[in-house]
Amino acid sequence: MEGRQWYKEMAVYHIWPRSFCDGNGDGIGDLWGVLQKLDYIKSLHVDAIWFSPLYPSPNADFGYDISDYMDIHPDYGTLEVFQQLLEEAHKRGLRVFMDLVVNHSSDEHPWFQESRKGPESPYYDYYYWRPGHVGLTGRRHPPNNWTSLFEGGAWEYDEQRDEYYLHLFARKQPDLNMDNPKVREEVKRIMRFWLDMGVDGFREDVITFISKAPGLPNAYPKLPAANGLRHYSNRPAAYEYLKEFKRDVLDHYDCFTVGESPMTTPEIALRYVTEGPDQVLDEMIAFSHMEADCFLTDMVQRPFSLVKMKKAFSDWQNKLQGKAWNALYLENHDHARIISRYGSEEHHTESGKMLAAMYLLQRGTPFVYQGQEIGMLNLRLPSVDLYEDVMTKNGARIASRILPKSRVLKLIQQTSRDSARTPMQWTDGENAGFSTAKPWFFVNENYRQINVQAQEADPDSLLNFYRKLLKFRKEQPLVLYGTYREYRPKDKHFYTYERSYEGKKLLVICSFSAEALRWDAPEEIDLNQGTLVFSNYDMNFVIANGFTTRPYELRVYLFA
Ligand code: GLC
Ligand code: CA
Repeated sequence: MEGRQWYKEMAVYHIWPRSFCDGNGDGIGDLWGVLQKLDYIKSLHVDAIWFSPLYPSPNADFGYDISDYMDIHPDYGTLEVFQQLLEEAHKRGLRVFMDLVVNHSSDEHPWFQESRKGPESPYYDYYYWRPGHVGLTGRRHPPNNWTSLFEGGAWEYDEQRDEYYLHLFARKQPDLNMDNPKVREEVKRIMRFWLDMGVDGFREDVITFISKAPGLPNAYPKLPAANGLRHYSNRPAAYEYLKEFKRDVLDHYDCFTVGESPMTTPEIALRYVTEGPDQVLDEMIAFSHMEADCFLTDMVQRPFSLVKMKKAFSDWQNKLQGKAWNALYLENHDHARIISRYGSEEHHTESGKMLAAMYLLQRGTPFVYQGQEIGMLNLRLPSVDLYEDVMTKNGARIASRILPKSRVLKLIQQTSRDSARTPMQWTDGENAGFSTAKPWFFVNENYRQINVQAQEADPDSLLNFYRKLLKFRKEQPLVLYGTYREYRPKDKHFYTYERSYEGKKLLVICSFSAEALRWDAPEEIDLNQGTLVFSNYDMNFVIANGFTTRPYELRVYLFA
């Protein structure tokens, strides 16, 4: 098979460690807990685990603010436990990927603490320190007009230094200066440290932001959010730095890299992921398919548009076809739960199965986020103050300027990243089986109905459906390597696509509606010639080369 690679055939399970499983009874998920669940993970027919950051961190952004890149947060374990986990995972044929967060560190990282001492410190140039300017009225102004993605302006004034530092995210996440060759050497050292230990690759956090325009110019016209983006997103030097990391480190290991790239198009992604000598990353995490019910950020909501979602998926499928490999996902720690967004809580299992097949049968490496496989749903807390996440708090603050309190709460309930960060629902017992102690964060009250234990026992559960789909995918070259073709892109209720490979075809039919609607096969297809391989209802009659749908109906036909 052309371009066959292990990373193209794998599926990845994504763990957000704080909420996965608490092994030592302090209410916080940890590596001891993951060790207990390795067989469960393996049973899903995935081939790898990606850990959201496990490193020491003051948790201003729950691990994405790192204070030591070469250790494990004591909440999660020790380096020894991590090594044990790595060994146990490898024994089971599971690869392990770490989150590499090098656009910024924590302000509590020793580098930043040192850099604060000023230009005489060898660490001063590890970050962006600038004096700003004082206006005629004596008021201090930041060096430029960029805004952060998490907390107001992108510059924080530091009393001790009498200077500003740049932070594209939270105040406690100062941006590292990647133009400094010493910083790039540090990144390489970090990469080697984990790869030498046996780690199999990295998910690279906001990696397309690592280069900032020389001179850090103002951005005009001034946008209400993410102002400055064009001066720090996808700059040519970001590509060059990734090439350097590849040449000096990654090429010397059999490892995998997936970059995260907010607001990126397939055209831009192809610069990094096109297979061949200029490739610098194996895959890129896209965002456009997650914007079918919002505008640029989850917090700016609009009604779900199936046409928009399909366009995003097809755009990436078509444009990467034959050139590069997709990363496929519907959930991660940065988004609300998918059934609560694109599916239907009322038709929980049916819509969950439909959504699973919809994305897992596309061309690319699927990522499944903890709890997604049992259809965990959004968390609806009674007050905005009860949410933990820094981005949620920021969103609520901004929304409060224009919306009444009740609307802000509804918005947060629908969009907060905290919905993906509630403790994993293992059982219907105390604390959902996540911990013997009071969990660090709210358990979703629906754990009595939605949990792993209940779904293990039910052959028709969403959990078992995920298992069957992931197994099928791995066994079928058609699903792994087949070409993608979408039917009726303008249809507002159905997503219909086909995969073809060496004369075989797979037809995937997804209804995104609770209504009974008629689905008719395209002229060139005779449904009676196909074998139904997946569906989310019993009794799947075909009448006149089509059928009338049940809520969120899914049918997958194989033509061999
Ligand atoms: C990425 C992470 C997100 C984090 C942000 C800043 O988008 O996925 O969780 O808050 O980067 O590191
Ligand atoms: Ca613990």
